[in-house]
Order: sequence, then C-alpha cells, then structure tokens
Amino acid sequence: MTSPLVIAIDGPSGSGKSSVSRAVARELGLQYLDTGSMYRAMTWFMQDQNVDLDDPQAIASYAKQAQILPSTNPSAPGIHVGPIDVSQPIRGDEVTAGVSRVSAVPEVRALLVDLQREVVAAAQEGIVAEGRDIGPVVLPNASLKIFLTADEDARAIRRAAENGEDVQATQEQLASRDKADSTRKASPLVQAEDAVVVDTTHMNLQEVVDHIITLVRSL
Ligand code: DC
Repeated sequence: MTSPLVIAIDGPSGSGKSSVSRAVARELGLQYLDTGSMYRAMTWFMQDQNVDLDDPQAIASYAKQAQILPSTNPSAPGIHVGPIDVSQPIRGDEVTAGVSRVSAVPEVRALLVDLQREVVAAAQEGIVAEGRDIGPVVLPNASLKIFLTADEDARAIRRAAENGEDVQATQEQLASRDKADSTRKASPLVQAEDAVVVDTTHMNLQEVVDHIITLVRSL
C-alpha cells in the first residue's frame, strides 16, 4: 500500500498560502489543515480566559486546557474550541494582535505540533497542511514541501483586499508579524532545505495551484 500524499506549504502572511492550500486540497481530493487557525484558536482561548499574553508561564499552564478541534474539509474549513465555533472571532483584530505572543511559547508549540501530527496521521486520503514550520519541523517526511513567497507590497495588497482594510496599515501589521514570527526562538519561520520555493508575486491563484499540482504529478 502506498502511503497517503502529504503536502506541506509554508510561507509568510499574505503569500497566498491559505487560498492555494485549500484549492490544491480540493483539486486533489485531499484533506486540509490550517495550522495558523490552531494558533489563533489558542490565542482566542487565552483571551477568553483573561490570561495575560505577556506572561509566557501563564500561557504555558493554561494551554493544556484548550480543546482545539480543527475541521479538515477544504470546502468548509473551521475550528472549534471545545463546543464553541471560533472560526469567525479568530480572524478579528484582537486575536491577530495577540497571536505572535502565544505562538512563541514553546509549550503551546509542542502541544499544537502533536495535535497537527495526529490530524495528519488520521487523514487516510492524504492532506495539505499549511503554516510556518510544517516542512522543517512538523512533517519533515512530507511527500512535497513548498515555500510560498511574494513581495511585501503584493502580500499587503492581497491581505487588505481580503479583509477590506487599508493597504498601508495592513503592510505595517504584516511587517511587524513577519518580524516576530521570523525572530522568535521557538521554531521561527524558516524554509526547509528540501522545499520548492514558489514566488507568487506575479502569479494568480490558479497559476500557483496548477504549478503545485504539476510538482505533485512529477513525484
Ligand atoms: O497564517 P496565520 O496568519 O493565520 O497565522 C497566525 C499566526 O500563527 C502567525 O502570526 C504565526 C503563527 N503560526 C505559527 O507560528 N506556526 C504555524 N505553523 C502557523 C502559524
């Protein structure tokens, strides 16, 4: 029996990761895991419990209580914390402003990485997992590793259009989150050595998806 196809897609915010990963999963009939939504759900939980996000020890001790349940259907992605559907609130400004502090806590990463590996192992039809450390850390044996990039301007324009926000403000927010995500001690955003780099600055969504599917077919 051949093992299921596992595709790891990493890259910074606004590189097109989520749209690309979902579309690739849909076209290939695979499951889809948005690991950023898990760090966002953990951040929502901490804020709901009034945990001080400047206190990594408090975050570490509360993290075990969070029951984080992502949906892996690429046509209906979403996430629950226990019985509560937090798919909408995790996209709000409050969670976005806190997520880098929560995702920098090693205990949070250890818990969520274990959970991510469990979800991937359970996906018998194969899966596309997207995030910041999937290829280098979470799934070093993935069938294919992609690192998506795009110029900072292109990323800001895309994110602002997605969220109906100002481009300048979005650019500043992205730059500060990229810096926090790339310089943290625990598992910073880095490219896996064996990743295929895809620069999406001058490509539309379908071109990126087609390119990745061509890479999959040549495996
Ligand atoms: O992709 P996103 O913007 O939804 O991710 C939210 C945050 O979660 C981002 O600032 C970095 C963090 N993250 C991470 O540290 N590791 C991952 N695998 C995915 C996201």
